[in-house]
Amino acid sequence: PLVTTAELVAEARAGGRGVAAFNVITLEHAEGIAAGAEAAGTPVILQISENAVRYHGGNLLPISAATAAVARAAAVPVSVHLDHVEDGDLLRSACRAGVSSVMFDASRLDYAANVAATRDAVAWAHANDVWLEAELGEVGGKDGAHAPGVRTDPGEAAAFVAETGVDALAVAVGSSHAMTSRTARLDHALIEALRAAVSVPLVLHGSSGVPDEELGAAVRAGIVKVNIGTALNVAFTGAVREWVEHGGASSDPRKYLARARDELAEVVRHMVAVVGQHSFY
Ligand code: G3H
Ligand code: ZN
Repeated sequence: PLVTTAELVAEARAGGRGVAAFNVITLEHAEGIAAGAEAAGTPVILQISENAVRYHGGNLLPISAATAAVARAAAVPVSVHLDHVEDGDLLRSACRAGVSSVMFDASRLDYAANVAATRDAVAWAHANDVWLEAELGEVGGKDGAHAPGVRTDPGEAAAFVAETGVDALAVAVGSSHAMTSRTARLDHALIEALRAAVSVPLVLHGSSGVPDEELGAAVRAGIVKVNIGTALNVAFTGAVREWVEHGGASSDPRKYLARARDELAEVVRHMVAVVGQHSFY
């Protein structure tokens, strides 16, 4: 069934677990993510990034309607989230699209401008029953270049949450977007310090590059929402490449998309189990 991100995050946090959020680009992504979560018997968040909306011609509705329909039909609780939104018009289209939560990303701005933009986004979101995540301390790799050196300061994070009223905070703790190898090392002491400093749940971006043990430790240290995108595309595209390299010659896209969707589902089944494992605190 379709549920809200607020519920899934609150339940995960109360249970001392993480909840995984996977990026949807195509319908096959949404279907494969739901299938993987069903196989593991865990809830999941389907997230559509501003980038993915741009890929679909700037039109949110077709992909969000399809994603929400997949969520409604799923055997496990699934929510739909808008990810890395910088455009105010896209933010305000969220509640017309079956989306219960948005990550508003003003992290490229300096601290004061980030606070001002995020505070406006929160005011709109809370007036429209939308759960709002924001980011402080830019997680690198959004433009392809990895910058894992950036870190979120706990004191600044506490002030940011107090000044903006956000529902969740994405933090820079060592991960970086778009990594195709799982070699990132996280600063777990910093995650614990951030958890102690802020009252809202913490979000890890760029989780594709983080090894299983590091992800489990991040959840134990205080990360609740774990965003994963690239790892799905590595599996999806790898399956298509293998099909072609092994002589796949049919012009029917279902021949290779079905394999790609299955491989993606297998990654999801594994990752939701890692993220959803009980923590020990
Ligand atoms: O917001 C999306 C995530 O941060 C995904 O990052 O593609 O590096 O896993 P990733
Ligand atoms: Zn991200």
